Amino acid sequence: MAFWKTLAVTARNPFRTEEGFVALDIGSSSVKLLEAEGGKGAYRLLNLGTLPLPPTAVQNNMVSDREAVVKAVRSLIQANGIKATKVVSAVPGRAVIIRKIQLPIQEDEELDANVEFEANNVIPESLENVNLDYQVLDYLDDGKRMDVLLVAVKKDIIRTYTDVIEQAGLSPAIIDVDYFALENMHELSGEPAPGSMNGLIHIGARYTTLNVLRDGVSTYTGDLPLAGEAFTEAIMQKLHISYDQAETYKVTGLLQGGKNGNLAALLRPICDSLADEIVRTLRLFGVMAEERLTSVQLSGGSAKIPGLAAVLEGRLGVPVKLCDPFRGFSVSKNVDRHYLEDSAPVFAVGAGLCTRRPGDK
Ligand SMILES: Nc1ncnc2c1ncn2[C@@H]1O[C@H](COP(=O)(O)OP(=O)(O)OP(=O)(O)O)[C@@H](O)[C@H]1O
Ligand SMILES: [Mg+2]
Repeated sequence: MAFWKTLAVTARNPFRTEEGFVALDIGSSSVKLLEAEGGKGAYRLLNLGTLPLPPTAVQNNMVSDREAVVKAVRSLIQANGIKATKVVSAVPGRAVIIRKIQLPIQEDEELDANVEFEANNVIPESLENVNLDYQVLDYLDDGKRMDVLLVAVKKDIIRTYTDVIEQAGLSPAIIDVDYFALENMHELSGEPAPGSMNGLIHIGARYTTLNVLRDGVSTYTGDLPLAGEAFTEAIMQKLHISYDQAETYKVTGLLQGGKNGNLAALLRPICDSLADEIVRTLRLFGVMAEERLTSVQLSGGSAKIPGLAAVLEGRLGVPVKLCDPFRGFSVSKNVDRHYLEDSAPVFAVGAGLCTRRPGDK
């Protein structure tokens, strides 16, 4: 089993009765669970925790070993004394087809039907097999036309997430997309400066998610198949040690046998590769060329790779900071402050999910 220090991190509160929501971020290396209550502008974090998953639990952007995920979710629910049952979770953006269309301004009822008609043309899947959702992004031409974002996810993929939630004794209320969760998380940090271009770089175990926000609104999203696991593998190969030993070394700086080398130097080549890939991808989408980033926030479990923020700062030429996803939250006294401070960036997607409520758009 890979090194993992976190389990239940909050004390039970038997007196709590308010109904909250459970946010579940099911990643390829771990499940992140948060419980929050309250609405816009007054979110309150009640509990949070994470448990590791076996490498086969999530594959090809869906849950492939449901039993393993159900077990982890049940353990987190129990260990954290979670009372809420309604779940907000997310599929990875990679599993989603996103298209922007323009439509003449129209009433909501009309819009439903027209969106479906337009989706037939732009979504490369039979609409029977997908869950389709949309959001009006913007009004143009003096309010005569509007930009509408279409989002389609294959039902088969969504079902793997909802099955797990149900089998864990919970009820799925919203299945979001991780890109949107990151955008919502960022929105909590306040009004963006006019003309700002913020880059969110979320580095997980297998994927790095890029999200560029112009004036707070997502203008580019994408993923790179390069993240924490590649760093562990690099250590493993260079030092000829096991994957688990390499993982422990990467996360704690402690190497079995006590011969602690320079971890940041060891990781430098792979930091450079990731930075190269990020810059290349952003350039492809016109960011870094005609439009410059104004700031970058790092999140995800791998945001704390020693030396990575500095390498990215050098390559991107803008300040790169660790993300604090809980800036817009008040925090229950049950939550261990130390743990929260130490691991907040890991919960970036989860924090964004906490802001979603059934029926909101
Ligand atoms: N303190 C740390 N320093 C460096 N890396 C860390 C640290 N803590 C966790 N990690 C790494 O973070 C990764 C897990 O991050 P995260 O939980 O965001 O990924 P995930 O959501 O499971 O995966 P993905 O989103 O890619 O499917 C692992 O590779 C782990 O080794
Ligand atoms: Mg993740």
